[in-house]
Amino acid sequence: MIKDNINLERLPQHIAIIMDGNGRWAKEKGKYRIFGHENGVKAVREVSEGCAELGVKFLTLYAFSTENWNRPKMEINALMTLLVKTIKKETDTLMKNDIKLEAIGDRTTLPKDCRKELEEAIEITKNNTKMTLILALSYSAKWDIVNATRDIVKRAIDGEIALDEVNENLINNTLTTHKYPHPELMIRTSGEHRISNFLLWEIAYSELYFTNVLWPDYRKEHLHEAILDYQKRERRFGKTSEQLV
Ligand code: FPP
Repeated sequence: MIKDNINLERLPQHIAIIMDGNGRWAKEKGKYRIFGHENGVKAVREVSEGCAELGVKFLTLYAFSTENWNRPKMEINALMTLLVKTIKKETDTLMKNDIKLEAIGDRTTLPKDCRKELEEAIEITKNNTKMTLILALSYSAKWDIVNATRDIVKRAIDGEIALDEVNENLINNTLTTHKYPHPELMIRTSGEHRISNFLLWEIAYSELYFTNVLWPDYRKEHLHEAILDYQKRERRFGKTSEQLV
């Protein structure tokens, strides 16, 4: 089994995933796009369980981007309904598995019921400690960076911070992702090689892993393959190989 080859001492602490290919998966089967999203829920369950089993501490899933608001209204409504239903249905599973749910993104743009279910699940699971599952919902990295910049400028105008206090740390701590370590591994499914406005700042030194598997077909074994591939890589952070020895 691929899983047995994973070195548990060298796991990524945080994995971020761009779940892509739901629409194409459905189209291949002659179905509506939402059928693909519905079947994507199984993959969400698989990776969440897979990460928790191994001991990965943080998993961020790109569930809905700021740009996704430009999709046809019917698809947006169906996706939001699916999200509400899934969050409600899976809260017990999150409790059983000691998983804490959190979210990044502009919650004010979410439909009321979606926001309510999300906030309820966040509240119910807040004391869980095994893993944190972070849903990126109505999220984009540029949205986060713009907001952080506004916040910093305001604090500077108000005299709370001086110009030379604006540094990497301050920006880091102002982003909505400040509570989490930066992902060591980012996975994108469906054969697309793009970042699509996801965690731009946070992936400065992430290992990127692309697979042709469409999201609804993604299973634990695929996650294990990605982690194994990550463990074979040498992370140099700008240094030479010799310096790392
Ligand atoms: C990308 O496929 C997928 C999405 C925009 C939505 C992902 C949502 C789910 C898997 C539903 C449930 C999620 C949670 C977290 C409960 P796409 O539509 O861009 O596919 P395409 O590129 O083939 O068109």
